[in-house]
Amino acid sequence: MNLINKMNPANKKVIMLVDDNMVNLKIGREILKEKYKVYSIPSAKIIFSLLASVRPDMILLDIEMPDMDGFEVIKRLKTIPEYADIPVIFVTARSGEHDEHEGLSLGAIDYIYKPFSPSLLLQRIENHMLMIDQNKQLKELNNNLEEKIQARTNQVYELQDAMLYTLAELIEFRDDVTGGHICRTKGYLELFIPAVMREEIFAEETKHWNVKNILQSSQLHDIGKIAISDTILNKPGKLTQEEFEIMKTHTTVGVEAINRIAQKVEANDFLKYAGLIAISHHEKWDGSGYPYGLAGEDIPLIGRIMAFADVYDALVSERPYKKPMSAEEARDIIVDGRGTHFDPRLVDVFDRVFDGLGRQGREIVRQNIRMIA
Ligand SMILES: [Fe+2]
Repeated sequence: MNLINKMNPANKKVIMLVDDNMVNLKIGREILKEKYKVYSIPSAKIIFSLLASVRPDMILLDIEMPDMDGFEVIKRLKTIPEYADIPVIFVTARSGEHDEHEGLSLGAIDYIYKPFSPSLLLQRIENHMLMIDQNKQLKELNNNLEEKIQARTNQVYELQDAMLYTLAELIEFRDDVTGGHICRTKGYLELFIPAVMREEIFAEETKHWNVKNILQSSQLHDIGKIAISDTILNKPGKLTQEEFEIMKTHTTVGVEAINRIAQKVEANDFLKYAGLIAISHHEKWDGSGYPYGLAGEDIPLIGRIMAFADVYDALVSERPYKKPMSAEEARDIIVDGRGTHFDPRLVDVFDRVFDGLGRQGREIVRQNIRMIA
């Protein structure tokens, strides 16, 4: 049982009645005491010390008081977040239109003139209490609903993430030279995409990006490898031209698979980005990439970004035919590809991700590699 309930065993709603006139306090108390737990407060200053232990459902506030007038009291209440929501009604002999306007504009929910009819005072208070209760219930309902929707959204996201990861892993299991590639590229993008967004160089496009969604989408970038034979996928040496042509089809096969899913569900960003990444992650800035030989900004931005993660990972990973490069060596190769393989402005961001974060940034990438590998 909380402090208020201990002091108010009948669980009546609590009203603080504030007036420097003792007769008014007594009359007010008589009117209200049957329905409400009433605190009669003769001085405005006492309100604040009492509020430390009592949370009223409403404050009935006189305006003209010697130590602090009612307008000052409400102003102070509104500046203290804990008390700002306590409903205040002015009950006052000041009947000027200007005073009433000021009282309401300071946040009072009503303005009642003295002398008042006891039954009307009670009725108005009761109406306000009812409205306040209904608002509270609506707010709680709304909060609960938001929490439930958020929880369900998280559940769907986690399920989707787990299924995608498993699907990506199944594809990766066949490809025994690139184990952990999907996880690692996702890790690099986790650093790189927010840096691109922060620098606002493609703000028009990136301002709507949901990084979490795009990271999920990136896991499907090589989904088309499902259609590539084991002989080609796991060939230890360099692919022949013919084999390479087949390997290239993992981009178009990938986007076709994603499009087939997209036809069965409502349009969503996740599939849109998955498709864009799958089809364009091997395009090159100078037009020498595949499958379409797109150049420059004709290559979707997300594909141009994915190219960094994909190539960087290939460079720093061990293959049967090559040793892994150091992060710094891989960075140098990517910087050399500025304007040929890679979008020049993105190379600058990539470089700044390393330089800006310095040792710490490189360590995060290394940790990602160690954790994920
Ligand atoms: Fe690929």
